[in-house]
Amino acid sequence: MGAVPLKWLTLLVITVQTTALVLVMRYSRANASGRPYFASTAVLLTEAAKMTAVLLTLWLENGRSVARTAALLRRDVWGQPRDTAQLAVPSFLYTIQNNLVFVALTNLDAPTFQVLYQLKILVTALMSSVMLKRRVGAVQWVALLVLVVGVGLVQVDRTAAADGRHRHTNHLVGLLAVLALCMSSGYAGVFFERVLKHGAASQSLSVRNMQLSLFSVPFGAVAAALNDGAAIAEHGFFYGYTGYTWAVIALQALGGLAVSATVKYADNILKGFATSISILLSVLISWGYLGDVSLSAGFAAGALLVVGATFLYSCGRPAPRPAAAAAAAARHKVE
Ligand code: C5P
Repeated sequence: MGAVPLKWLTLLVITVQTTALVLVMRYSRANASGRPYFASTAVLLTEAAKMTAVLLTLWLENGRSVARTAALLRRDVWGQPRDTAQLAVPSFLYTIQNNLVFVALTNLDAPTFQVLYQLKILVTALMSSVMLKRRVGAVQWVALLVLVVGVGLVQVDRTAAADGRHRHTNHLVGLLAVLALCMSSGYAGVFFERVLKHGAASQSLSVRNMQLSLFSVPFGAVAAALNDGAAIAEHGFFYGYTGYTWAVIALQALGGLAVSATVKYADNILKGFATSISILLSVLISWGYLGDVSLSAGFAAGALLVVGATFLYSCGRPAPRPAAAAAAAARHKVE
């Protein structure tokens, strides 16, 4: 029963968070005025913030007892090495992904990035069908086709616009970054969903997030050392940091935790639906307040197709297979 409002609450949080993050991140990069902060350090701090938040949640969940929290971590995280180790896969992909988002948003304006990133729904659908045996119906395939057309329209429109303006950014680099992001997001998201919903049922969301964080923090540190090690040593870890950088870190951390809750209480496809709505919001804010983008007919048509496709996808969901429905009902009982 309680799962229904939680589902919509998580979707609402992720819509608002995605819009805010994309705009603040783009603003923090586009207005860095020659002193851009090291994105890899922001990613590392985000992972550390998430781990702290998860530890705090576990402590609250365990009657504010440090001893009980430590015992739980010993039993469910250290004591389950194989179960914990599998989370290294999404953690590794998310580390690359979280760094690539900065590359994409350094080279593309916020709405273009968001519309192109919707291609991840296509990858997510394919992965859900293969890895979770989720049925993708005829209407949903049509919706995916519409999605691809919409993304293509925006892409053509943006490439034309980029030829004339924004000479300091590299549109192709931004585009390649988004394509890599789509692959990684689709696979890692469905992988995490499979662990959450089809793995050991006794593991709570907080334990799963802790298992993920255990890898994400060291991976983030390695990424920072490899990407910016020499420059960090020369200029310092916090070089170029402004209030916007801290806002990006806070929003990223909140977003990560919101994503995990959305995947638990809804699913990865519905998460895509929520981010589609945030596209409309970020286009309007970018256009109205930041002056970052001019709205052309091509862009508007493409964005409409993308958002429409996402709605169509959600409406056209086929009924779950009987076996899958029975398994879901059994899981619901356990929870
Ligand atoms: O765009 P996408 O939805 O794939 O982004 C996923 C984001 O959520 C990544 O930044 C990832 O680090 C974060 N995440 C998280 N904890 C999870 C699952 C995802 O922090 N359990």
